[in-house]
Amino acid sequence: MSSAYDAPANGRVGAALVATDDFAALLRLCADLTAPRPIEELLDSLLEDARKLVRAVAGSVYVVYGDRLRFICAHNDASPHAREVAAPLSERPWATLRGVMVPIDSQSVAGYVAATGQPIRIDDVYAVDPAAPYRFDPSYDRKFGFRTRSMVAVPLREQGNRVLGVLQVLNRIGDAGQVAPFTARDQQILLSVGAVAAVSLRNAQLREELIRSHLDTILRLATAAEFRDGETGDHIRRMSCYCEAVARKMGLGREWARQILVASPMHDVGKLGIPDAVLMKPGPLTAEERKLMQQHTVIGAHILEGGDNELLRQAQRIAHSHHERWDGSGYPDGIVGTDIPLEARIAAVADVFDALTSPRVYKSAISFEKSFDMVRAGRASHFDPDVADAFVSLEEDVRAIHEAYQPV
Ligand SMILES: [Fe+2]
Ligand SMILES: [Fe+2]
Repeated sequence: MSSAYDAPANGRVGAALVATDDFAALLRLCADLTAPRPIEELLDSLLEDARKLVRAVAGSVYVVYGDRLRFICAHNDASPHAREVAAPLSERPWATLRGVMVPIDSQSVAGYVAATGQPIRIDDVYAVDPAAPYRFDPSYDRKFGFRTRSMVAVPLREQGNRVLGVLQVLNRIGDAGQVAPFTARDQQILLSVGAVAAVSLRNAQLREELIRSHLDTILRLATAAEFRDGETGDHIRRMSCYCEAVARKMGLGREWARQILVASPMHDVGKLGIPDAVLMKPGPLTAEERKLMQQHTVIGAHILEGGDNELLRQAQRIAHSHHERWDGSGYPDGIVGTDIPLEARIAAVADVFDALTSPRVYKSAISFEKSFDMVRAGRASHFDPDVADAFVSLEEDVRAIHEAYQPV
């Protein structure tokens, strides 16, 4: 019996799939899978390509997370939200399932595949033999108004047999546009694709672990420098979030914005090299002491120099130049305008604004309104006018970040 869910609502998949050349699609899929990128994007494109290869209307991907499976993404060309594949991951209706955890057991097909490492192919999920060692969980069909019929679920299995995730595709489109069973060949293709995807997934996981451990080390180093100055880690958290928000506002791209978020906490790391007598002096500094204090920029750049990655090079530029001023009256080099690296011009506004709005032993916090006025007033003298404009246009975000990171 056919149903409204037999064919894609927009006819897109059927047409595209009939024209798909398996070999070309496989090559494209391998190229897609080996490009380094975030895990969600990687698995999203795996699902898209795998569905085309086996003519599946819908599908989903899960990743093993501790002792459970975490839902990563789903596609469904037959749903009323047929265009969701074109939308950014975070805006799709299926995004409501993000973070949903599925037990690795026999209560769902994906859970069973993850538990056993065995693929499963079912012609009609509502006619599964009650004696089968797994169950089909119909709750997703009910939730999204879908009717799953045929299904293949394969493990994303690393060499050495560890299952890293599960790829599941639903409702194969037959030649006449009806839902048909998947073939043994479909299952074999998906198993091969799953093996390639597992390698890429493991690489992506290792890359993210590495980034997390870098970030952790960086934040600890930066916090150590802040503590010497009587600061808490909250200053660098707020300041780096301001930097990220400004970078996004200025259209510098997600990657660049993420990089400045990680690089900017190290701006004052050079304070580790300033003698206590100067750094912690309660009264005003003499001219000589001020000169010594200004050396924290050069010392910081020295600590960070020679890094073999762009993140550290950016951190070095920020440490070196975050006290330069647009009009050339800053330090340590007195450089002017766009000679000052962009990341340092952004860090300058973020750092000064946070210093203004935070209480210090020798002063109380200045109000938000007054601090924004001071950023406006420093436009084209102290600060890069474009950066200052971007910052003041972000008032709501700045307030939210300020409130999020306050000492308990
Ligand atoms: Fe500084
Ligand atoms: Fe600072």
